[in-house]
Amino acid sequence: MIADVGARERIRTSIHRASPIVTPDDETTTSATWWHRAVIYEVYLKSFADSDNDGVGDIKGLIDRLPYIKELGADAMWISPWFVSPMLDGGYDVSDYFDVSPLFGTLADAQELIDASHRLGLRVVLDLVANHCSSEHPWFQSALTSPRGSKERELFYFRDGRGENGLEPPNDWKSIFGGPAWTQTRNADGTPGQWYFNLFDSSQPDLNWKNETVRAYFDDVLRFWFDRGVDGFRLDSVAAIGKDDDYRDMGFAPDDLYRPDKWAPVPFFDAEGVHEVLRRWRRVANVYESEKFLLGEVVVRDIDRLARYLRRDELQSTLSFDLCKVSWDADEFRHMITTLHDASLTGHSWMTWTLSSHDEMRTVSRFEDEGAASAPGDVATTGHRRARAAYLLAMALPGSACIFQGEELGLWEVTDIPDDRRQDPIYFRTAKRQIGRDGCRIPLPWENDGPSLGFSGRAETWLPQPSGWADVSVATQLDDETSTLQLFRSILALRSRIFSDDNWEFSWEPSATGVLALRRGPNFRCVINFTGEPVRIGDDDEVLVASSPLSSDREIGVNCGAWLRTR
Ligand code: BGC
Repeated sequence: MIADVGARERIRTSIHRASPIVTPDDETTTSATWWHRAVIYEVYLKSFADSDNDGVGDIKGLIDRLPYIKELGADAMWISPWFVSPMLDGGYDVSDYFDVSPLFGTLADAQELIDASHRLGLRVVLDLVANHCSSEHPWFQSALTSPRGSKERELFYFRDGRGENGLEPPNDWKSIFGGPAWTQTRNADGTPGQWYFNLFDSSQPDLNWKNETVRAYFDDVLRFWFDRGVDGFRLDSVAAIGKDDDYRDMGFAPDDLYRPDKWAPVPFFDAEGVHEVLRRWRRVANVYESEKFLLGEVVVRDIDRLARYLRRDELQSTLSFDLCKVSWDADEFRHMITTLHDASLTGHSWMTWTLSSHDEMRTVSRFEDEGAASAPGDVATTGHRRARAAYLLAMALPGSACIFQGEELGLWEVTDIPDDRRQDPIYFRTAKRQIGRDGCRIPLPWENDGPSLGFSGRAETWLPQPSGWADVSVATQLDDETSTLQLFRSILALRSRIFSDDNWEFSWEPSATGVLALRRGPNFRCVINFTGEPVRIGDDDEVLVASSPLSSDREIGVNCGAWLRTR
């Protein structure tokens, strides 16, 4: 049976025109700005391109490959943290916010990158890790040698332990990375000392954002990079910087991992204090003549709470990873997209859509049929077809969109990394119960041959590349008109031509069960087929782009989608 897009089996139409929250101190509505429908390419620096052959990507490697990002059709890059760091969490553990890690280059390289990107018309969005710093940050080092109650310790969350000699953590709170969220220190005489709070790894002590020294310091961090031409910040784990002074047990079991999207409200996440800080950052950003973009990584349990982060004097947009979690199911997609879009409109803004990131499983693998692990070089699996269709949908939504490097190549999650090569603290802190995020962070394949397929001059890279990636390298795909890379290039080129900057409306058209038909404007539709049967399109529909070629009967195949214009 062939399903028809217009069938009335399941009908739900919604037009999104939610009225934005208006707060008394609102400034005038922001008119269309550069990020409104920008495509932001996420560069995970360690795995993008290596110029000095140490097996780790770096800034100069990125400079060499900027034309690739531009030609893909991106408008901006979000670059993972390049600051000085012991790299115990890939740079999300910063020990100096005002300089660049020698692993990645120098401050001069960073400036060259910013300038070269701007010459190409690419904006630069850095990653600001403000919830915590590295335990090697000078502040934390002096806190360790300072007494209980000192101003040095006030910059963090130091507390006395419970039980005899304070040997038990202050409470039962858990880390997102596994294990307790408290780490015990040692006093100078070797006796057990106070505990400090770490929402992530113990090498990432949380900063006390109620403290004015912390606040003023980060104002300077923002200004330091804005003054160098950076166009914005992706604000790492930003909901975590708000914390209430309430140290009750939360009822965690010993093996629980804290998941911000799952747990009922806790005092150490998404507390009211965060909004004061966001308003402060916005004031710092607003001083600049060119618009500086504050994009929050906001993970909250109740999506409606996203709106609070998007009030006009707070963030311009949020990245939510909820779309990275939906299954291959029309209703799940429709529900999640509608909920996120409504929440951001209520808050006065648009979403930045994303299907993956350096923290998530690769889209191809997420949508793969159970048990159908791709054979090396197999680029036509169910997972590939679905991922291509899902991107067609995400790119049709109003707002900006983020593409994690390698998604445009259809790279899959690498699951067979040898134990002794794994790096993610999650793997170790959960005693290997959780595999962690290394599998999506594998160095990119650029060429068909050569050591590490053009990623580096040396074969041994910081995470090993799997076999079979020559077949999905950039070089291979550029030569193949039907490749995923070429599809992305077509989609992005079309997207920048057909959508205007200020149109934030869309509706779901009536469609058959398992078919999504999203409409924008009078004649654009994006139709995605989640059913097990082909879907016929109307005679008046012109196909603008399809995730896989349509059959001669004008049918959108199973696990495929198309952008259509009604003539
Ligand atoms: C980043 C992760 C990082 C964590 C701690 C996240 O949101 O995206 O990669 O491990 O914050 O900084």
